[in-house]
Amino acid sequence: MILQKAKVLISTVMGWDIPIENHERRLLEQEIMPYFASQIDVKKVLFVGCGSYTKHYQKIFARQEYWTIDINPLKRVYGAKHHIVDSMSNLGNYFQPQELDLIICNGVFGWGLNEREAVESAFSASYNCLRDRGILLIGWDDVPEHKPFALETLDSITKFQPYHFPPLNTWRYNNPHDSEDHHYYDFYQKRANRE
Ligand SMILES: C[S@@+](CC[C@H](N)C(=O)[O-])C[C@H]1O[C@@H](n2cnc3c(N)ncnc32)[C@H](O)[C@@H]1O
Repeated sequence: MILQKAKVLISTVMGWDIPIENHERRLLEQEIMPYFASQIDVKKVLFVGCGSYTKHYQKIFARQEYWTIDINPLKRVYGAKHHIVDSMSNLGNYFQPQELDLIICNGVFGWGLNEREAVESAFSASYNCLRDRGILLIGWDDVPEHKPFALETLDSITKFQPYHFPPLNTWRYNNPHDSEDHHYYDFYQKRANRE
């Protein structure tokens, strides 16, 4: 126990990887991200919000140009080679319209990105920076302390269309085998110009 705590402490200070092992992480790391990493038209990826347990994600996207962003400057140590210290609301200052193929925003809405105006700006900027048919994945927790409001009430979200994620056969996934699991993955797609 003491050894384990010491390992976590040292790894945190050193900025080493400490993967989390649970259903939602396994799904993200072993199904969702590898699926997108294998797609030929996914070339530029942005991952929002960093931690010791997300550092190794750059290995999954080794074939892509992989970017990270976190508002907290201390998280830079867990970021990718291409890392931005700023709010997701200001994405437009860093990427051109149509520049990104995939944005993964897991555990950020309700975990710091909370104010309606900031969330609207973040998802609206995501829409602009994604290419046509690009994907925004939002991982969120359906518990009052981490759900400031329903995502569907955002104007910025209604611009997207739900994306039916083939491996899970749905656009919104929650573990059906565990009533205690309140984590959801929502897949949104930017409409093509004439859709
Ligand atoms: C609970 S952690 C989630 C980390 C990771 N994305 C994951 O998959 O678990 C939330 C992270 O989001 C960052 N964050 C909060 N608000 C943000 C914002 N507006 N823009 C960018 N990052 C933000 C925090 O600094 C923190 O590192």
